[in-house]
Amino acid sequence: MRVMLTGGAGYIGSHTAAALAARGHQVVIFDNFANAERDVPARLERLTGQKMPVIEADIRDVPAVVAALREYPVDAVIHFAALKAVGESEADPLLYYDMNIIGTIRLLQAMQQAGVARIVFSSSATVYGQPDSSPILEDFPTRVENIYGRTKLVMEDLIRDLARTGKLAAAANLRYFNPVGAHPSALIGETPRGVPNNLMPYVTQVATGARPHLNVFGNDYATPDGTGVRDYIHVVDLAEAHALALEHIVANNVSITVNLGTGEGTSVLQLVQAFETATGRKIPLVIAPRRPGDVSSYYANPALAEATFGWRAKLNVEDMCRDSWRWQASRAGINDV
Ligand code: UFG
Repeated sequence: MRVMLTGGAGYIGSHTAAALAARGHQVVIFDNFANAERDVPARLERLTGQKMPVIEADIRDVPAVVAALREYPVDAVIHFAALKAVGESEADPLLYYDMNIIGTIRLLQAMQQAGVARIVFSSSATVYGQPDSSPILEDFPTRVENIYGRTKLVMEDLIRDLARTGKLAAAANLRYFNPVGAHPSALIGETPRGVPNNLMPYVTQVATGARPHLNVFGNDYATPDGTGVRDYIHVVDLAEAHALALEHIVANNVSITVNLGTGEGTSVLQLVQAFETATGRKIPLVIAPRRPGDVSSYYANPALAEATFGWRAKLNVEDMCRDSWRWQASRAGINDV
C-alpha cells in the first residue's frame, strides 16, 4: 500500500514509517515540523532504504492536503499530527481545539475531496480519564479530565461518526497507553522540546547529566510501592500495531477501536530500577508532591488487538529502557551503549 502519515516525522509517526517500510509499504510524510526534527526523513532513508516524499504543510490547509493526496494517491492516511501536552492544553484550550479538532476535520474534508476513505488514528488511553479499575477494556466509559483528553475523544468521535455513516470505508482508533523507547538503531527516537513532561525522557536526561535528579511525583498512592503505575509500551511494538491494524481494516473494510498496551503495570520506582539495570547508570531520586491530575494506576487489557489483528507487544520494560537510553546517549554524544 501507499500510506500518508500526518505527523510522519514525529516520534510515533517516524517509527510507524519504519514499520510500514519494513512490511513493504510506501510512505508519504506530511508534517509541519512544529514538533519534529528536520533530519528525520534522511534518517528514515538510512534506516529503511526508502526515500519517502515529504510534504511540509499544515493539516488545516485543505488545498495543501488535497494537492498532496493528488500528487501521491494513497490507500489510507495514518493521522498522528496533533498537540499532546496536557498542561499546555489547559493553558490554551483554543489552540488545542484548533490544531487537534479543526485539524482533524480539515484533514477528513481533504481526504473526502481526494477520495481517500481509510484512516488510522492516533488516540490515547487518556479517553478513559480516571478509570474505575484496571485492566481497562475498550468498552469502559470514556471520561474527559482535561482539554487534551477532550480533543482526543472528539477526534475519535468524528472518525467513528464518519465510519458509521459510510463516509469512511475503514477506520481504526488506536488508544495508546504510555509509549516509550526508540528504534534500536538509535537513528530515530523522541526529542522533547524543553523540560520533558513524561517520565522516560526525563530519566534519560538525568542519565546524561543534563538534569540533576528525577522528581518522583508522589509515593503515597495506593500502589505496591506508592508510586504511579502505568502501562509502558515500546514504540517499536506500537509502530508494528499500526501496520497490522491498517492491513486488517483495509482487507476487511471495518472500523475498530482498540487499546495498545502491554497489559503490564510498572511503577515509577520499578521503571527507574529497570533503567539502572539495563544501562548501568544511576538515577538520583527526589520524592516530590503528587502532580495535579495524575491517576494512581492504569493499564490495558490488550486482548482485543490480538484477537482482531494478531498483535501483541513483544518488548519488555528493560528493552524500553535500553533503547531509550541508546537514543538519548547518541544524541548527547555519549558512547557507552
Ligand atoms: N512521573 C514522575 N516524574 C516525572 C514525570 C512523570 O514521577 O518527572 C510519573 C507520573 O507521576 C506518572 C508516571 O511517571 O505516575 C508517568 O507519567 P508520564 O507523564 O510519563 O505519563 P502520563 O501517564 O501522566 O501521561 C501520558 C501521556 C499523556 C496522556 C496520559 C493519559 O503523556 O499525553 O498518559 O493517557 F494524556
